[in-house]
Order: sequence, then structure tokens, then C-alpha cells
Amino acid sequence: MAKSPAAQKNYALKTPVFLVGFMGAGKTSIARKIARMCGLAAIDVDTYLERRIGKRIADVFAESGEEGFRALESEVLCELADKDPQLISCGGGVVMKSENRTLLKTRGCVVHLKVSADEAATRISNKATRPLFRDLEAARKISETRAPLYEEVARITIDTANKNVNAIASEVVAALKKEGVLCQSPK
Ligand code: S3P
Repeated sequence: MAKSPAAQKNYALKTPVFLVGFMGAGKTSIARKIARMCGLAAIDVDTYLERRIGKRIADVFAESGEEGFRALESEVLCELADKDPQLISCGGGVVMKSENRTLLKTRGCVVHLKVSADEAATRISNKATRPLFRDLEAARKISETRAPLYEEVARITIDTANKNVNAIASEVVAALKKEGVLCQSPK
């Protein structure tokens, strides 16, 4: 028999869950959806970073370059990994630094939401908020460079092509349960 919505919310995470993938993969929306489905906390690394320093990501890039942004991103990632386990949606470039990849692999369960640069381009309406997604050719190259890095860190990979948020979130939930990362809460 299907569980009531209240019972379905009664879940807990054994470790942090890091959602990674290229810009436009839907990491933030999927994390929020799973949080609502399972009664979990979700946090977005970029949003957390923006609130912490009181600046938009695009301004950080403009003022301090990608290097400045990456340093802040690593700091925030460490901070969030130390908190109680939650769903953590990461920026698409989090896998660029090897120290981040080590943290992702050792501190939690990484879910790679796979999307092509071409598909991502159709999903991102405001490219001005993504300094590294200004033209499709460049995005394709970045995506190619990162593909093996996402593979390196991922314990779970979900292809998001032609699927809606509900379908992807349900697939992630099923995979996390199978991995023993998402469990019924004893409460
Ligand atoms: C970036 C992705 C962005 C943001 C920043 C850099 C990247 O996050 O962190 O613009 O290098 O791919 P989203 O993946 O949420 O768009």
C-alpha cells in the first residue's frame, strides 16, 4: 500500500549528499524537491556563499576572477560538509579543484545529475548570472573537460535528459535508499 505523504517525509540522511553536474542540470531544483518529498534540509553552495559575503556570484567573478570565486567556494564547501547531513547542491565547477573532489568523495555521497551543454543552454534563461556560460561553444568545451571529473566523484549518476524535476527527484531518492544513505528516521 502507498505510504501517506506524512510517512514519506519521515526520512534522514546518514551522510551529506552532494548534488553535482554542469550548469543547468537542475541541482538546486532537484535538491529542493527531494527536501520537500522526504522532509530533509537542502542548501545551495552558491546561495550560501552569496549570503555569507553579501555579493552576487557574477560580482565575485568580476572583482576577483574565477580563482577568487573558487577559493570562496572551497571554503563554503568545507563549512557545509561539517554541518548535520543535508542535501547540498554545488556549483557546476566544484569538481575543478582536486581538494574539493577529495572532500566530495570522502565526506558524503555524490549524485551526478548529467546534462549536455546543448540541453543546459535550453534550460538556462538568464545566462548573465553564469559568468562561465556565455556562449555555447565555450560551454561545450568546459563540459567536455569536466565530464571525467564528475565521473570520478559520483557514486550515483542520473541522466536528466528528457525528464522532469519530479521524475529525476524520484530516481535520486530511490538510488539514495539503495545506497543506504537515505533511511527512515527512527523518530
Ligand atoms: C559555475 C557554476 C555556477 C556558479 C558559478 C560557476 C561553473 O553554478 O557556481 O557561476 O563553474 O560551472 P550552477 O552550476 O548552479 O549554475
